[in-house]
Amino acid sequence: MSKIIDGKVISSRLREEIAREVEQLKKAVGRPPGLSVILVGEDPASQIYVRNKEKTAKELGFKSEVIRFPDTISENDLLRKIEELNNDQSVDGILVQLPLPEHIDEFKVTLTIAPEKDVDGFHPVNMGRLLIGKPYLVPCTPLGIIKMLDYEGIEIEGKKAVIIGRSNIVGKPVAILLLQRNATVTICHSRTRNLPDIVREADILVAAVGKAKFVKGDWIKEGAVVIDVGINRDENGKLVGDVDFEEAQKKASHITPVPGGVGPMTITMLMYNTLQAFKKHVGMEGEQ
Ligand code: GUN
Repeated sequence: MSKIIDGKVISSRLREEIAREVEQLKKAVGRPPGLSVILVGEDPASQIYVRNKEKTAKELGFKSEVIRFPDTISENDLLRKIEELNNDQSVDGILVQLPLPEHIDEFKVTLTIAPEKDVDGFHPVNMGRLLIGKPYLVPCTPLGIIKMLDYEGIEIEGKKAVIIGRSNIVGKPVAILLLQRNATVTICHSRTRNLPDIVREADILVAAVGKAKFVKGDWIKEGAVVIDVGINRDENGKLVGDVDFEEAQKKASHITPVPGGVGPMTITMLMYNTLQAFKKHVGMEGEQ
């Protein structure tokens, strides 16, 4: 039986540390870190995510505002608002919740956010810095995965890591982070041949495909560490990951559950990134 990596417990420890640091810095700087979240439209999932981000930010002592726009807002008006936030000295972090309506170019939006306020870590400057080993703001889910491995004392160096999924938000950045920690990394995707055989070699498996129970138990190597990034509904409407948890649990040494695994870490890392951006902004170097 494997050890369950409890994202809620790890998150709450890290959140306590962040809240303590925010309290100290607030006294020293004279203002709290500021996070501005832009939400366009009425997408129900986005509304829940944004509400959770705002709630967590407030709990940890940040100044948090949510700017809501109808889905009829023009691209220009949205870009102008982002520029205003770029120039607002009380704002340290800016996040535009995705997805955006079709008439708005997501890439243009990402490019408009000042890289030093890009707490999602999606701007090409932040992505490029990560790639060359000089990271500044790192995408939240990949960063959360590394923090979980570190928290559990799981060694990365020399391990064979297999990632299923090549998205810009999870697959590619987590591959780079694992590579920088000296893992041997394989990125798999929809055109990969013999996927189960490749996964069977993984000491560390990161599943980020977005398909319910896609990874079967007999794909898991005995003693592997399994990180499940998926959040899907099964045929009964139950929340499940990309990995068949019941089966995989019999083989893995460590495994993240869904829900309660990677999910809580993503918001925690958003708070961590906002704190780093604040420290840089006020001249107290953020570590990363
Ligand atoms: N929509 C779903 N996940 C995310 C995320 O991590 N950041 C942003 N900006 N939007 C999202």
